[in-house]
Amino acid sequence: MSDTSSKSAASDMWGGRFDAGPSDIMQAINASVDIDQRLYNQDIDGSLAHARMLSACGVISSKDAEAICSGLEAIRADIAAGNFVWKPELEDVHMNIEAALREKIGEPAGRLHTARSRNDQVATDFRLWMRDTLTGAIEGLTRYQRALIAQAEAHADWVMPGFTHLQTAQPVSLGHHLLCWVEAAERDKGRLEDCRKRLNESPLGAAALAGTAFPIDRDQTAKALGFDRPMANSLDAVSARDFALEALSAAAITAVNLSRFAEEIVLWTSRRFGFAQLTDAFSTGSSIMPQKRNPDAAELVRAKPGRIAGALQGLILVCKGLPLAYSKDLQEDKSLVFTAFDDLALAVSAMAGMAADLSFNRDALEEAAGEAYSDATDLADWLVRELNLPFREAHHVAGSAVKLAESKGVPLSELTLGDYQTIEPRIHDGLFAVLSARASMESRLSYGGTAPVRVREQIAAWNTRLEA
Ligand code: ARG
Repeated sequence: MSDTSSKSAASDMWGGRFDAGPSDIMQAINASVDIDQRLYNQDIDGSLAHARMLSACGVISSKDAEAICSGLEAIRADIAAGNFVWKPELEDVHMNIEAALREKIGEPAGRLHTARSRNDQVATDFRLWMRDTLTGAIEGLTRYQRALIAQAEAHADWVMPGFTHLQTAQPVSLGHHLLCWVEAAERDKGRLEDCRKRLNESPLGAAALAGTAFPIDRDQTAKALGFDRPMANSLDAVSARDFALEALSAAAITAVNLSRFAEEIVLWTSRRFGFAQLTDAFSTGSSIMPQKRNPDAAELVRAKPGRIAGALQGLILVCKGLPLAYSKDLQEDKSLVFTAFDDLALAVSAMAGMAADLSFNRDALEEAAGEAYSDATDLADWLVRELNLPFREAHHVAGSAVKLAESKGVPLSELTLGDYQTIEPRIHDGLFAVLSARASMESRLSYGGTAPVRVREQIAAWNTRLEA
């Protein structure tokens, strides 16, 4: 083999029409191997499928195909064992592996690139990587859901304040609250699954942009790589990155959902709320304040949408206005997607870990649930049911009761029947049964409501659903 590693020599891959090698700056801006070496398994899988297909179609000999395949497997083993030297002067993962193959098996290596280009090669590798990564993210979200469901099961009838505007609104079951995040994670999984399904078409065989004159079988390579079908348009195959945009947008939405529960963990574990705590496993201390226990992991998950939505924005701008077909701009896709999905995987694991780690303070939750007149709606509802008041009027009466209780500095349950009758003479002492946080929670039996019976039904449904 001639010297591909020397910067002064023209490239082995395209040196025919070049006299000299690239400048240092050219090499620095062009090389992507630091980042795309992560695709080595997919690159080798793609090459194996391609070589076998070329041989089956009579484009290369079966002897050459065998040499290529065993050489590629040996390279895979070398890389996995850390015995592979990545060379930036060989630009990217594709050319590094092809050059290594040439070193290993000699001349047949040069036949592998028949009817192929790095353009369809990288598109294939990236789709394969994205597919596996989406699967991993979906599995991680399922683990997070299981942790939430276990906690919901243990706390189905614990009452806590439900908030709107972060103001105490109505009592809810802690289990119900936690199941909300299970629902959100399920939709996130659905978006990731949709994306995985849509991207699962093979670009391989589109070659540089126009297809190839060799009699290849794109169905064979698509099938060998687990794709549903070959992409139908060669220009689209090499230039489309909307699958990565779609994956990033699903990841960004997932991160936003995770960040919302992360924020609640931050609030709940603060002394002011005192609803929950994390163990040492998910807390950090302060280097100056010895008493501190900080929820750093939750805060970092809260920050992840900044990075992941940033990557989405970044790739959207890289892709905007790109004409057909492949342009080198597209090389900038991978670092954005890799970091975003690394962030997402870590965020999902951290949330699964924290969801399991949290312990809750029953008394503090129940006390807070009964504060701030959270049973005022129950009073109004009772007036509708018992006295047949129109809701608007009942709302007004209940408002007057809250005003009176506030002026006396007592909860609604501690106003006397006489107090109530000054506001509405028909009120009788049956009212007091509905004036507690627990009674309020237990009364909300509508489908999707917070009554513990409904929550237990949902838990059972989730357990069956996640088993399947
Ligand atoms: N490293 C390149 C990328 O990631 C591979 C494709 C290069 N193709 C080309 N025609 N220069 O996009």
